[in-house]
Amino acid sequence: MNKYLNGQWLFASNFFKHPGLLGSLIPSSSHLIERLLRPIDWSRAKHIVEYGPGVGTITKRLLAHMAPDARLLALELNPEFVTYLHREVKDPRLEVVKMSAADLGRALQERAWEGVDYAISGIPFSTMPSTVRDNVLQQTRKHLNPSGEFLVYQFSDRVRPHLERTFDAVERGFVLRNFLPAHCYRCTFAS
Ligand SMILES: C[S@@+](CC[C@H](N)C(=O)[O-])C[C@H]1O[C@@H](n2cnc3c(N)ncnc32)[C@H](O)[C@@H]1O
Repeated sequence: MNKYLNGQWLFASNFFKHPGLLGSLIPSSSHLIERLLRPIDWSRAKHIVEYGPGVGTITKRLLAHMAPDARLLALELNPEFVTYLHREVKDPRLEVVKMSAADLGRALQERAWEGVDYAISGIPFSTMPSTVRDNVLQQTRKHLNPSGEFLVYQFSDRVRPHLERTFDAVERGFVLRNFLPAHCYRCTFAS
């Protein structure tokens, strides 16, 4: 099986094991990824975190655009995806760790990162416990730089009030060309 099919198969088989953690049977489409990442100013994207990289569909697109001195820290709960990414995506700018996005502060402290320019999220906020959702949002707010942005996609609009409570501004978009159609949010602070 080629690498692409291997990743798709691993993703789908994990959906049947952990439907609530994945939220989708197949990884994000290129249309969704393009829309999600469109706001990024790559010249100032030096410290990026990704929540829930899965089999690396968004991760690879981030790496393709990132500057040589930029760093990407991906936090993934599922050990099978972590092992897969360690094996399949070899790039010195990327570090994949088996850790919850709710533990962002600890992950940054261990690496002496002072802040984050962009946090990219593919984790399903509507199916996780509300305490985990609130921790992820608070940790993200705390560790994003003042000009930092939190870019999120979701299959339902349920997280929006929580994003609006946590950030100063939330812009919304909608991408039809994905299975399932997805909401995109760009969360920022007042300048
Ligand atoms: C819908 S999949 C997204 C995969 C990939 N980013 C994409 O867009 O194709 C959600 C991923 O989030 C991971 N996940 C769920 N909750 C998480 C959490 N609290 N911290 C880190 N990863 C989490 C799941 O294991 C899964 O890999």
